[in-house]
Amino acid sequence: MIEWKEEYAIGISIIDEQHKKLFEIASDAEELLLMSNNIDKFDEIIDIINNLTDYVAFHFAAEQEIMEEIKFPKYFSHRVEHQDFIDELQKMNISAIDKDQQSQLLHIINLVIDWITEHVLEKDKGFAAYYKQVSEKL
Ligand SMILES: [Fe+2]
Repeated sequence: MIEWKEEYAIGISIIDEQHKKLFEIASDAEELLLMSNNIDKFDEIIDIINNLTDYVAFHFAAEQEIMEEIKFPKYFSHRVEHQDFIDELQKMNISAIDKDQQSQLLHIINLVIDWITEHVLEKDKGFAAYYKQVSEKL
């Protein structure tokens, strides 16, 4: 079951709340995956991809705004990773989704899980550590 845990917290509460929302979307995808595969899930999968795309655009912008404010030294490479995630979502193919709904759903879930483990737990935590350093000096 996909669920947010305290260990995922980076310590910037506004960003942690947004990360929780990413988990909610991944959990919607998981719920849909576990439903009978005799039903047509195409529309719901498209909704999930759209929700995720809209939400990450909002969330990445929020993170990047804070990074600019504190002049985070790894801002540009971090931003590239955000763009890579958006590109992955945009690469999803409508006819593949229609043909193989379960495996495409699984692909979305894996994208988010990999994102949490590779980006949030490493890069975002690094950013949060820098944020903390800067805030302590103010
Ligand atoms: Fe990030």
